[in-house]
Amino acid sequence: MSEKQRKTRSLSEVDSPEDSMIIGSKVILRDKRLDDALNDYTWRTDPELARLDAAPMPTTTFPKYLSDYASELRCSSSTRHRFAIDTLDGKHIGNCGYYDIDETKGEAELGIMIGNRDYWDKGYGTDAVTTLVSHIFRQTNLKRIYLKTLDSNSRAQKCFKKCGFTPYRHLVRDRYNFVLMELHRDQWRKNSKQKLNQVRA
Ligand SMILES: CC(C)(COP(=O)(O)OP(=O)(O)OC[C@H]1O[C@@H](n2cnc3c(N)ncnc32)[C@H](O)[C@@H]1OP(=O)(O)O)[C@@H](O)C(=O)NCCC(=O)NCCS
Repeated sequence: MSEKQRKTRSLSEVDSPEDSMIIGSKVILRDKRLDDALNDYTWRTDPELARLDAAPMPTTTFPKYLSDYASELRCSSSTRHRFAIDTLDGKHIGNCGYYDIDETKGEAELGIMIGNRDYWDKGYGTDAVTTLVSHIFRQTNLKRIYLKTLDSNSRAQKCFKKCGFTPYRHLVRDRYNFVLMELHRDQWRKNSKQKLNQVRA
């Protein structure tokens, strides 16, 4: 890791020999590891999760998926950052990240999936998104984060609204109806101040 990368780490990030961790209230976001591959393959080949994500299911076998996974882990990218979502006691329950980072426009797309159904509707998604958004706005110069989710995915929209995202456009792509939602840095700052005042009151 370069000195510049080291300096951009958040106060809430903890160095360990091989991982960086971003700590939230209910989750820890950490670097992806090879031993996440089986969970990721299981989730990506789950028909309900693929439908909710409007994503094609991989047709490759697990050994092939694992070998591609290992190659991908070895490559770092300046346009996307992926994290595993762990519970505070270290159970891997999903993934999140930001993609299509455009330094010129100052924006990136956020993605999340809680793959383990036992952890739906318990606030883990909200905490993971809130933690990731804080990390992005504190550690980068990005000014806007956007995301898209299916029009029909009310749980996801409720979760993103709780994190401060607001809908701004509808989009039809590959016969799927999406709602696009966004959060600007200024709005995030206002929301954070408001929450702090509520805690102090
Ligand atoms: C979408 C997802 C990230 C949300 O995370 P989560 O931990 O389940 O969500 P949270 O518990 O933080 O918040 C969900 C909210 O939606 C509410 N909700 C659940 N089902 C709902 C429905 N059908 N309609 C309206 N609200 C609903 C929950 O009650 C909760 O609100 P509350 O805290 O006020 O009670 C997660 O469920 C997930 O990854 N699901 C599977 C994949 C998926 O949907 N992918 C698309 C992501 S774009």
